[in-house]
Amino acid sequence: MPWEPGFLFINREMDPSLVIFALAFSSATLALDNGLMRTPPMGWLAWERFRCDIDCRHDPSNCISEWLFRDMADRLAEDGWRELGYVYINIDDCWSSMDRDKEGRLQSDPDRFPSGIPKLARYVHDRGLKLGIYGDLGMHTCGGYPGTTLDTVAIDAQTFADWGVDMLKLDGCYSNSTVQEEGYPLMSKALNATGRPIAYSCSWPAYEGGLPPKVNYTQLGEICNLWRNYDDIQDSWDSVLDIVDWFSTNQDVLQPAAGPGKWNDPDMLIIGNFGLSLEQSRSQMALWAIMAAPLFMSNDLRTLSNEARAILQNKVLIQINQDPLGIQGKRLLQEKSRIEVFWRPLSESASALLFFSRRSDMPYRYKNALSQLGYTDGNYKVYDVFTGKTMPVLTHDMYFSVSINPSGVVMWLLSPIVHRGKAHSTGNPSLLHNHVE
Ligand SMILES: *[C@@H]1O[C@H](CO)[C@@H](O)[C@H](O)[C@H]1NC(C)=O
Ligand SMILES: *[C@@H]1O[C@H](CO)[C@@H](O)[C@H](O)[C@H]1NC(C)=O
Ligand SMILES: *[C@@H]1O[C@H](CO)[C@@H](O)[C@H](O)[C@H]1NC(C)=O
Repeated sequence: MPWEPGFLFINREMDPSLVIFALAFSSATLALDNGLMRTPPMGWLAWERFRCDIDCRHDPSNCISEWLFRDMADRLAEDGWRELGYVYINIDDCWSSMDRDKEGRLQSDPDRFPSGIPKLARYVHDRGLKLGIYGDLGMHTCGGYPGTTLDTVAIDAQTFADWGVDMLKLDGCYSNSTVQEEGYPLMSKALNATGRPIAYSCSWPAYEGGLPPKVNYTQLGEICNLWRNYDDIQDSWDSVLDIVDWFSTNQDVLQPAAGPGKWNDPDMLIIGNFGLSLEQSRSQMALWAIMAAPLFMSNDLRTLSNEARAILQNKVLIQINQDPLGIQGKRLLQEKSRIEVFWRPLSESASALLFFSRRSDMPYRYKNALSQLGYTDGNYKVYDVFTGKTMPVLTHDMYFSVSINPSGVVMWLLSPIVHRGKAHSTGNPSLLHNHVE
């Protein structure tokens, strides 16, 4: 259990320099005007777990085929996922035939998708879900299937719309900066021109190093609903850490880019696969919630353990991820003790605090006070997201201590206790983000 019952309070003098009333971040830029994804999208995406397994003869239940997507759609609809918001069921690479049809349209592989994508879309829609598909702006997809070149952008957008597709992930293998600069905005226009609301995931920034000046996040927010900034996730804790470090190191650039309708995408949730321990699985889910990340699971929903399911279906974690303000959180502190503190402001003056251990020895007792984390004068209700327990009321200047397991997290949802005529804000930890103990 990450929560320590011997919760410790020490009153200390309030430091007036830490009483800050400014509201946290603001986001003035526009988002892609298709009305979609006002909160981070949630669902399931085939890639990390099932890759380009096309061997349906020897591996029929795991190969990229209409049966795999129907199986996963059934699970999303029947196992409580849909009601929690996991509504996208997304195809990745290796779904198509090696050849376009005689009208120049993409077509699905006839052996692995014998019923075709329109029928799969109906199957998915009948279950209250949405279907995502994959394309690649270039000569070929990463897996070597037909790509979308500049002259086929319009026909591919129309094909996906005609099929009843709800989301497109557009990858960027086998192309170059010139083609991408023209092609990603072109596809955004082409999707809009179909008249069908189709959410648009752009891999563009990941191909340009993810940072300005090569990447223009203002522009991305205007043409894409989400974008992959960085490397593909792999089924390992190292990969999760690498992604978290890159996003945290560059948070001053990335954080302001996100907001309703436009999200940074640190890639799929790998919880329920082979690479993460239980503690690490909790950590991935908590960090993704702080980062306002899309929650696309890439796992086998047919064989998921109860522990993995409980993490992925944690209602308060999902509520934090889906907060309507859509403000991405930040890493506030990297302590010498290798404890890191993350924070995300939420609606109704609530906030999430995450204590993350990078240690590899034993549970670590971390001590701090909310006032040191940018919280203003006041009392806070504290709910422990993983134990489901409400803690004693915490005053901003009381010391608390939490026990954090190696590579694990403790996550709190905090709500100010408002007295009549006096509201408390969650302060402005951005002013403190460079502080290292
Ligand atoms: C980029 O790719 C396009 C299409 O393949 C090609 O015509 C163009 O010459 C390439 N540009 C550069 C700078 O390599
Ligand atoms: C297309 O763009 C216009 C203007 O930005 C917007 O009002 C409309 O809802 C969009 N339509 C679709 C289908 O995305
Ligand atoms: C980035 O894109 C925005 C919106 O398209 C544009 O106004 C701005 O000039 C671009 N910035 C740079 C540095 O190119």
